[in-house]
Amino acid sequence: MHKPLLIGPFTQLLPMTGLALKGALKDEQLPIIENGGILVSEGKILKVGVFDELKSDDVDIHPIEGAQVCLPGFVDSHTHICFGGTRARDYAYRNAGKTYLEIAKAGGGIWDTVTQTRKASQDELVEGIVSRSKKHLKNGVTTIEVKSGYGLSVDEELKMLRAIKQANESSSATLVPTCLAAHMKPKDWNRDNDYLDVIINELFPIIKTENLAHRVDAFVEESAFSPEEIKPYFQKAKAMGFDITVHADQFTTGGSQVAVDFDAVSADHLEACTEKEIELLAKSNTIATALPGASIGLGCAYTPARKILDAGGALSIASDHNPGSAPMGDLLTQASILGTFEKLSNTEVLAGITSRAATALRLTDRGKLEAGALADFVVFPTDNYQEITYHQGQLKPSEVWKKGINICK
Ligand code: NIG
Ligand code: FE
Repeated sequence: MHKPLLIGPFTQLLPMTGLALKGALKDEQLPIIENGGILVSEGKILKVGVFDELKSDDVDIHPIEGAQVCLPGFVDSHTHICFGGTRARDYAYRNAGKTYLEIAKAGGGIWDTVTQTRKASQDELVEGIVSRSKKHLKNGVTTIEVKSGYGLSVDEELKMLRAIKQANESSSATLVPTCLAAHMKPKDWNRDNDYLDVIINELFPIIKTENLAHRVDAFVEESAFSPEEIKPYFQKAKAMGFDITVHADQFTTGGSQVAVDFDAVSADHLEACTEKEIELLAKSNTIATALPGASIGLGCAYTPARKILDAGGALSIASDHNPGSAPMGDLLTQASILGTFEKLSNTEVLAGITSRAATALRLTDRGKLEAGALADFVVFPTDNYQEITYHQGQLKPSEVWKKGINICK
């Protein structure tokens, strides 16, 4: 039996515990343990407290040198990092003022990535996911949600979900898969029956049998699926025990109502949402997820995060990392920038990528540093936690720990 490992002392340790799931958070509410330590055994946290009080002959010590701030490993609750190819041409077209329709006509948009992803083998997709998740991990992201949605047929969606499962087995980060078979209507659909019927009747059961995902997502939008069209898909998903999450209110409203109606775990995007949707979400159990990477990638408005929090909503912040609307894929940079535009406290930003983001994925064993949680944490070389968002992603972690192992020095 190994002795438990005591890691520290950290100048400041932010456990992110005791913070409400919903509503505004002030920095005065942020718990900070000075000269903190974390006691770890078998990948989990045994205790969090003052380093000197945790020291004993019964523990081994991993010493932390110099000024360092420790907080839970970041959770990126919305990404599309399983894809083939690139959409650099779309980006240039958008910046040249071309419209969505013009870009689609020129062969761009989501369908372009579907075509490129279908050309990739499962192993090539695995390689892409693993290399992107390594980058996220270096930046302190220890849990990454990954969607399908660039397959848009039973076989191609399965290829993506199997690739995500395979990548999870060889990646140090935890990958949380989500089925996004309703990302858009496939342009090549030429069977008599409705595409969604086939997804419901053929794809969902295989996902269950192979345990490929426990979450189902859809893009509710004029260019994808209307609230009416998507109902049977979510009804069936819910009946089969999947958690529901929705791409909602990105350009037009309607999606967050669907999310609340289905008691979705999260409604993501919300750039177009109005007071009505903000009220609706604030009163619900559905977590609002802001995706500042999509606003930056598209040159669009940010999700009204301040208003959502002030109305009493729960706010997660995710990267939406994808080849089209959000190619940057740097969660901390994006969350920090959202903070400046939306006037968010450090506590709101940090909770949005730790404790509140974990709840958006229904994960109770991470996002906080407390006894029983996974020993997933990130360490920044500074004596003041305020420096983390201040550097807008340019202050890089000195150490990242996943399940009690120091994976990036
Ligand atoms: O979350 N909005 C829909 N889906 C993705 C974009 C995917 C793409 O452009 O390839 C999003 O932004
Ligand atoms: Fe997305």
